[in-house]
Amino acid sequence: MERSDFARLPRHVGIIMDGNGRWAKAHKLAVALGHRQGTENLREIIRHTDDLKIEALSLYAFSTENWRRSPDEVAALMQLILDYFASEIDELDEKHVRITILGDKSGLPEKQRATLLNAEDRTRHNDGLRLNIAINYGGRAELVRAARALAQRAAAGELRPEEIDEDRLAAELWTAGQPDVDLLIRTSGEMRLSNFLLWQCAYAEFVFPEELWPDFSVASYDRALQVYAARDRRFGGRNAQA
Ligand code: FPP
Repeated sequence: MERSDFARLPRHVGIIMDGNGRWAKAHKLAVALGHRQGTENLREIIRHTDDLKIEALSLYAFSTENWRRSPDEVAALMQLILDYFASEIDELDEKHVRITILGDKSGLPEKQRATLLNAEDRTRHNDGLRLNIAINYGGRAELVRAARALAQRAAAGELRPEEIDEDRLAAELWTAGQPDVDLLIRTSGEMRLSNFLLWQCAYAEFVFPEELWPDFSVASYDRALQVYAARDRRFGGRNAQA
């Protein structure tokens, strides 16, 4: 479907790409292959987001809790980060996509950190889709970091505590300058936020498709966008008919 087919589109979509492990198990494959398959369909999802001229797409690739998985699985995900950027960065840059990493890069191995910094630097001046990839990310940690930055500025006398407001806090988040998440999609039927974009999802609509992430297609994405278009967003107020 194209932009004109939707009555309304979100400005910012967040996706929790869940179900790679179950997909691998169902296909009698190693879990690493589930994650690899999960990056394959990502290409089409990003292309479609770009074609629809949605402003921002945030993907949850690796949470701070994911370090608890087996060393083999963590290693596979770390390798996937390198492979993903090696194979996709040229096309993303050509399409003027601007990449931002959400999360603490300093907690990553050197190679991954360098790859992610390079992707951000190379696309920094692009004016197309904002592609946010959350890696070593936790929503609470993001808020703590923002609180600390504001406290430091207050302690240094640059900011009075009463001047701290929502805009100033939002400006300290990794998503600074971007719109809030309008639509949050989590695949595989799980209905949890799992510490993803806690602040940014304050008024998001949630859609929970049953497909496992590797099975999530452009058609599934269009269905989620149609559900969003049909929702009545009130932001705490009343709708016109009420
Ligand atoms: C959840 O599935 C998915 C993850 C923990 C990783 C998602 C990562 C990718 C799709 C790779 C993306 C990488 C880049 C660099 C963009 P799960 O393993 O928790 O699934 P399960 O609940 O079925 O076990």
